[in-house]
Amino acid sequence: MTSIFDAAISVVRADDASEKARAGREVHDNWVAGRLDMNPGSNALPDRPGRPEKPELVPPAQVPRRRAGTPEGRVALLHALTHIELNAIDLAFDMIARFGPDVADDLRHEFITDWLTVGDDECRHFLMIADRLQGLGSSYGALPAHDGLWEAALKTADDVMARLAIAPLVLEARGLDVTPQMIDSLRHAGDATSAQLLSVIYEDEISHVAIGARWLKELCSRAGLDPRERFQDYVRKRFQGGLKQPFNHDAREMAGFERNFYLNLSD
Ligand SMILES: [Fe+2]
Ligand SMILES: [Fe+2]
Repeated sequence: MTSIFDAAISVVRADDASEKARAGREVHDNWVAGRLDMNPGSNALPDRPGRPEKPELVPPAQVPRRRAGTPEGRVALLHALTHIELNAIDLAFDMIARFGPDVADDLRHEFITDWLTVGDDECRHFLMIADRLQGLGSSYGALPAHDGLWEAALKTADDVMARLAIAPLVLEARGLDVTPQMIDSLRHAGDATSAQLLSVIYEDEISHVAIGARWLKELCSRAGLDPRERFQDYVRKRFQGGLKQPFNHDAREMAGFERNFYLNLSD
């Protein structure tokens, strides 16, 4: 049998974006079918995930403006979202490969299952929006993108609690804050197809934030730590700039991420 940790690393290493997404879904299915074990792997995580040659990575200010109102703006918006989903695939499989082996024995299987559920969703999201981009006459890689998401993740490579605080509970929770507005703008612009895709993603992302909140609380409780204090400390020390308002309190609440965790961290 193959180790889940080796299988997760092979997803992170994959260069071709669609290939990465398909491989991720296959790893998920193999895990659910009991075809992977939790023995230590023999592969090493790369310093950077495998990525296609395109998109070119540029500073955030050089990424084309995303506006739902014009066809070019919509392509820019969907391109940026596709890039976010690709990063999200790497983050989910990195979570398993990097931190899974050190999770307590009695929690490890559940930890892996939860993050594979997230990873499988991210693969599906990537394939869905990349397909929509093609429907609009563009493709993933046609525009430049920035590397901010991965850079933020790198600052938490040494500590699972820090990763949980920053990746799902800052970055993905931010997605919950901004997506309803994007869906509205796409609908207004007459792009009901893209709006519908974003609605599907939005619902799934609530469950990703929920999984993040659940694991931060669980690991803190095992270690006798206060999850709210830990969260606040990590955000202050490892995330640049305060959290941006307005917050989508309802969606965050639905994910079990209560406002006393984040309210006083906003600028
Ligand atoms: Fe996603
Ligand atoms: Fe997600």
